[in-house]
Amino acid sequence: MDRNLALEFVRVTEAAALSVGRWIGRGDEKAADHAAVESMRKAFDSIRFCGTIKIGEGERDEAPMLYIGEQVGGGEGPNIDIACDPLEGTTITALGRSEALSVIAAAEEGNFLHAPDTYMDKIAVGAQAKGAIDITKSPSWNLKEIAKATNKSIGDLMVIILDRPRHADLIAEVRAAGCRIRLIGDGDVSAAIAAAQEETGIDALMGIGGAPEGVIAAAALKCLGGDMQGILKFRNDQERVRAKAMGIKDENRVYGIEELARGNVMFIATGITNGSYLSGVRYFGGGAHTHSIVMRSETMTIREIKTMHYFDHKPRYGW
Ligand code: FBP
Repeated sequence: MDRNLALEFVRVTEAAALSVGRWIGRGDEKAADHAAVESMRKAFDSIRFCGTIKIGEGERDEAPMLYIGEQVGGGEGPNIDIACDPLEGTTITALGRSEALSVIAAAEEGNFLHAPDTYMDKIAVGAQAKGAIDITKSPSWNLKEIAKATNKSIGDLMVIILDRPRHADLIAEVRAAGCRIRLIGDGDVSAAIAAAQEETGIDALMGIGGAPEGVIAAAALKCLGGDMQGILKFRNDQERVRAKAMGIKDENRVYGIEELARGNVMFIATGITNGSYLSGVRYFGGGAHTHSIVMRSETMTIREIKTMHYFDHKPRYGW
């Protein structure tokens, strides 16, 4: 993949973040989401590549833009598969809470898991614990292995878990193992990335979140040298039928990081609200600051990009 595309794609997440920035804390999830999708779509089309949305806003019948299978990009150039979440953290944004992001992952054709819009049980860890996890074993088994691999005592581990009733048993087991927990309201892409960045103090993400988010997080973790495993979790037979039609044969299959996001991938994110490693959109008279991360798995280069946008001097993609 052309490495310059990663730097082009940051304009796309920046555009979405600049649009959503106007909706932070305004209690309108739909408007925030719509702003992000519209701007991301427009910004994609300003880039010379032939993109296909593999992970997006859902199936065509439920998403007017950035639906699975939609073609994006300027229409010439390389064929690239896109996994995107224009607004990861819709509720977070509407409530003005932290860790909302706009994200894109890119891979060569056919390299992302065609993940149905269902749930996924996930474990994500950083580089030190790569190879030490096994999602088919208990959380306490995994925590012991993560502690060994990171050379920490088990009581020093910090696990991030979505605060959901479905996680009551998981939370109890992690606490019984003596580990600390950070419960979050939303945003497990950001949480998975945090688990792979030492300065955040997070050692692992555990629990069930969105399957599309699992694919996007896997792309990020590949760039960071981390590890991840996932098992799809269906809520009903309708989801099972849909998944079968998408080529999922074994519903208990364990997906490793390489099956979630194969080959060389790129990951790009811009902060919408402040988070543990990215600042949110900050306005000044006539413009705004954004803070983004751009990573490529091939070289494992991680770039942080702080941008000043002067609104009168640049194309406006819906913001
Ligand atoms: P949205 O931004 O699409 O609302 O997703 C937020 C999120 O918290 C994801 O990070 C997570 O994977 C998923 O929702 C969890 O789903 P649920 O809220 O149904 O538990």
